[in-house]
Amino acid sequence: MSGKLLLWLSFISMLLIQTTGFTYYNCEPDGNFTTNSTYRRNLDTALSTLPTTNTGLGFFNYSAGQGSDRVNSAALCRGDINQDVCRSCLNDSVVNLREVCPNQKGAVGYYDECWLRYTNNAILGNTDLNSGLILYNIQNASDLDGFNEVVRPLLNNLIDDAAAGGSLRKFASGITTGPDGITLYGLVQCTPDLSRLQCSDCLQNSITGFYLKYGGRIGVKSD
Ligand SMILES: *[C@@H]1O[C@H](CO)[C@@H](O)[C@H](O)[C@H]1NC(C)=O
Ligand SMILES: *[C@@H]1O[C@H](CO)[C@@H](O)[C@H](O)[C@H]1NC(C)=O
Ligand SMILES: *[C@@H]1O[C@H](CO)[C@@H](O)[C@H](O)[C@H]1NC(C)=O
Ligand SMILES: *[C@@H]1O[C@H](CO)[C@@H](O)[C@H](O)[C@H]1NC(C)=O
Ligand SMILES: *[C@@H]1O[C@H](CO)[C@@H](O)[C@H](O)[C@H]1NC(C)=O
Repeated sequence: MSGKLLLWLSFISMLLIQTTGFTYYNCEPDGNFTTNSTYRRNLDTALSTLPTTNTGLGFFNYSAGQGSDRVNSAALCRGDINQDVCRSCLNDSVVNLREVCPNQKGAVGYYDECWLRYTNNAILGNTDLNSGLILYNIQNASDLDGFNEVVRPLLNNLIDDAAAGGSLRKFASGITTGPDGITLYGLVQCTPDLSRLQCSDCLQNSITGFYLKYGGRIGVKSD
């Protein structure tokens, strides 16, 4: 038997599952743009340039325009996937997000391997993204106390490692053995623009956010 615990990017969470190819997406309610607008042109520019801004480690950011027409865009690939999968995930995200949110100024879409967001608001340095999700396995650990005794230390170690990751990548994954010899997998990641403290706080808040409700579940994914 094996359990899987994925704790990905972390934000305050809602339980929400929608599909369209994306694991989850949200057209943000910050306003719409029209077909021939400057915002639309800036968005086109941002999303065609964004894939070229890779640091080589899976983080992308690009902004176009000024003031109320400024489009900020960013994308992050999971830290353990290769660059081809990353690029292709980002390409799919660009196409699909424009399709499901055709005229919204802001949108975010998540796949397992990457997410993409664009908005007129600031993205970098910001830990309170207003869209997030928790996905969890409906099964509970049979030995709840034993399970929790190993999950928390595993995640705390991973959070320390990820937060210390520097300005290009903040990612960590690891394995530990739980009660009855089960294998537990953990994975955490922040966008690399966050400071060490911001990253660590954000991930800790995310754990606290799902722990009370879903603490005994054998798998949790929180974005
Ligand atoms: C934006 O467009 C969507 C449909 O694409 C519509 O449902 C929504 O009411 C519009 N919002 C505003 C503020 O006009
Ligand atoms: C957008 O611009 C094109 C070319 O200038 C024009 O033909 C079209 O009618 C415009 N559409 C809207 C919605 O203004
Ligand atoms: C992504 O799209 C760009 C331009 O549309 C294309 O050149 C590139 O080959 C695509 N990459 C992948 C991995 O699909
Ligand atoms: C797991 O535990 C929760 C909370 O105690 C409970 O609501 C849920 O029904 C349990 N799930 C299963 C599959 O037993
Ligand atoms: C975001 O893009 C700007 C402009 O290209 C660049 O200077 C900056 O280093 C990028 N930030 C991160 C965290 O990659």
